[in-house]
Amino acid sequence: MPAPASLAARLAPSDQLHLVRWWDELAPAAQERLRGQIEAIDFEQLGALHQGQVDQPDWHAAARRAQPPVAMRLADRLTGGGGGLGVKPPEAIAAGKAALDAGRVGVLLVAGGQGSRLGFEKPKGMYPIGPVSDATLLQIHLEKAVALAKRHGKGVPVYLMTSPITHEEQIAFLEANDRFGLAEDDLFVFCQGTMPAVDEATGRVLMSDRGELFLSPDGHGGTIAALAAYKKAGVGAIDHMRRRGVEHLFYLQVDNPLVPIGDAEFLGYHLAADSELTSMAVAKSAPEDKLGNFVMVDNELCVIEYSDFPDDVAAQADAEGGLRFWAGSIAVHVFGVAFLERMLALKDALPFHVAHKKAPYLDESGQLVTPTENNALKFERFIFDLLPKAKRPIVVEYAESEVFAPLKNASGAPKDTPEYVRQFLLDQQRSWLQAAGVAVPADVPVEISPLWGLDAAGVAERAAQAPVAIEGPTYLRG
Ligand code: UD1
Repeated sequence: MPAPASLAARLAPSDQLHLVRWWDELAPAAQERLRGQIEAIDFEQLGALHQGQVDQPDWHAAARRAQPPVAMRLADRLTGGGGGLGVKPPEAIAAGKAALDAGRVGVLLVAGGQGSRLGFEKPKGMYPIGPVSDATLLQIHLEKAVALAKRHGKGVPVYLMTSPITHEEQIAFLEANDRFGLAEDDLFVFCQGTMPAVDEATGRVLMSDRGELFLSPDGHGGTIAALAAYKKAGVGAIDHMRRRGVEHLFYLQVDNPLVPIGDAEFLGYHLAADSELTSMAVAKSAPEDKLGNFVMVDNELCVIEYSDFPDDVAAQADAEGGLRFWAGSIAVHVFGVAFLERMLALKDALPFHVAHKKAPYLDESGQLVTPTENNALKFERFIFDLLPKAKRPIVVEYAESEVFAPLKNASGAPKDTPEYVRQFLLDQQRSWLQAAGVAVPADVPVEISPLWGLDAAGVAERAAQAPVAIEGPTYLRG
């Protein structure tokens, strides 16, 4: 049986009829699945993206007229000054604590990715990273939310974003582990959307199988649409936030176990500056660091990705000989929920970034072709493109050793490998213990679960309650 006329009519104007070439070979369930995939596509938008009619900013030109961002620098925080924002650390801490005590803070954890770059064919959040415990990235993040809730006497709901390829496996993993201690209403799992890849030459959507389009997650910018579009028993994440009175969301990506989730000082700058979007930065150590750059372009704060930032601009020095464009993005932000709701109401608040990629595809005879050159265009949205749309967005600098060790590469790479991340965790936690007066013999690995001590202050408090003796490898938990 040929494809239904309604589908053909949808596909013909944009020259996409090849998508139903094998329709009559498919079982009814597979036909329905394919129909769903096709009906979810906005072919007009896709055509415009392929033909370059959708605005792609000239990032190189933007970088050339950029200025460094106004920010709360680390030195000001450490010396107690008000810095570029005029908000002193104690004021910020008090404001952040008050919001946590009132239950107005939630966590938005973006975990759509697979661990493929690590040679780990599971959701990245399931990677066992704990240096002594083998705790997964997800466990570490969720235990921080549990510890934060305990500290403030109010639940801190976690909104966890998955992708179609990682959704079921993460749900099963979380259930099997009792959500790592989070109350049922404190974990809302939702799934991001997808975008099709198109053939670079023709703009036709690529197929990965006879009944299957080549779909990829739509980027972490897809979080925004998914907050409303994905429904669990008729309720979206944004509805859940409204019901719970969550007004501020602490955003992080699953690959970095050092993120100080719910840090009161960071939240406090956001609140005291009445910002709609606050971002955490670390000072880049070299111009070529693979970090997005926070910059001001035409008086608007934005991120220009490292891949779009010209080398000579990245290398510019400031008056003291440091990097002029120092502010590297570690993908940690605080969003006002009201701001996200406003962005949701705009259909296309975020632009698409176009990437040229290699994508295996079915040719006309139905054979899978693995290209050796880039053959496809993929489209992704980036969450940090919300910055120019936010009112009073700000940047706050933290020390890299305190907040940033992302797991991105397999062992053997120079940085961001499992060994690198574990060492950062061990070094940080050793410094917390030592500051609390606990002796840790050299070369003995000690790992601290967030349930035992959430941060330096939590560890100090715990160590004051009962003596801690460390002799061999230790996992402090519970
Ligand atoms: C990213 C940032 C970069 C920042 C760096 C810090 C982008 C484009 N760049 O680089 O500015 O300096 O992190 O570590 O984000 N994810 C999803 N769904 C998606 C795409 C990504 O959930 O559709 C999640 C992944 O699970 C991952 C995270 O977002 O945890 C980061 O994505 P990735 O593509 O690895 O970004 P990077 O190139 O590392």
